[in-house]
Amino acid sequence: MKESGTALEFPEEIRNRINELAENADLKSLKESAARLSENYRAESSDGKRGAANEIDALAYSAVRMPATFAAVSKALELSLTCFGGEINSILDVGAGTGAGIVAAARLCDCKNVTCIEREINMLELGKNICKCAGVPAAWEQRDLTDGLTDKADLTLCSYCLNELSEKQRESALSELVNSAKKLLVIVEPGTPFSFERMKQTRQFLLNNGLKITAPCPSENACPLPEGDWCHFTARAQRTKLHKLLKNADVPYEDEKFCFIAAVRKDCEPCQARILRRPIIESGRITLSLCGENGLKTELVTKKSPFYKAARKSDSGDEFPPRTR
Ligand SMILES: C[S@@+](CC[C@H](N)C(=O)[O-])C[C@H]1O[C@@H](n2cnc3c(N)ncnc32)[C@H](O)[C@@H]1O
Repeated sequence: MKESGTALEFPEEIRNRINELAENADLKSLKESAARLSENYRAESSDGKRGAANEIDALAYSAVRMPATFAAVSKALELSLTCFGGEINSILDVGAGTGAGIVAAARLCDCKNVTCIEREINMLELGKNICKCAGVPAAWEQRDLTDGLTDKADLTLCSYCLNELSEKQRESALSELVNSAKKLLVIVEPGTPFSFERMKQTRQFLLNNGLKITAPCPSENACPLPEGDWCHFTARAQRTKLHKLLKNADVPYEDEKFCFIAAVRKDCEPCQARILRRPIIESGRITLSLCGENGLKTELVTKKSPFYKAARKSDSGDEFPPRTR
């Protein structure tokens, strides 16, 4: 089976910093906190309550969730930036947590004008610490997204945050995010059927508010997926010793499923079609499940195709045919 690629490796300096901090923390409390975080994540309650609030929760989040959210956000950004094609000179990360998204975005966009907004002081302090060790000069502000945003940036990023808001808070939060994005808005959420349903509503909200969909969709037509199916992608994160210890896990990696939407104010170049499932590779032929401008289709790519090599290397989330720039 082909491995799911990630856009960026989880930075070693961040991994080392988290390990250092964990060495001085109480392991039992860290384990309990990691278990609570996983339970909350699986419950998808989105009731607007505080998630990782105390210092140990923030550290547990950085150890067990941050590598996976970093992998997912970096892949979502990579796919979005390919279709955006413009320049990003400032980034705003809303619900920045311990800095997974901002570090990925700052590195992919090679941008130093970066601001993070975060409600929880313990997440913010750890995020600051992590950004510093990763060489990302972010300005951190302790604020609540639901109080409104006056900030503007070329790229506004909001990853794994909207799913923590209540239904009522979400729509006003979306308006704030739309207004803050001067060029590109990227929203990343868990790759579950529940989050995808909400992502479809988000997509419609963005279209109703004059934005153009950049990725992952190839068009602005209604989503062609049948009920019960959901569009999601996978990013692989390597597990550290600490991660395995806290999660009682043996496998050296985890595959993070995520869904995302990217939208722009001006023009963009959406893909012709996107691969929705892991390609099926058989002798001399590859079967791709695609979402294209005219809906869903299955494409058989044989050795005669000029795209055979690209199809062999492809993965879910990739554009097909690949873009030539
Ligand atoms: C699951 S974490 C995600 C952190 C980071 N974006 C990532 O991808 O790893 C969600 C973060 O959003 C923050 N958050 C939730 N609701 C918020 C709000 N209303 N205003 C600001 N931050 C909020 C939480 O405190 C938490 O740090």
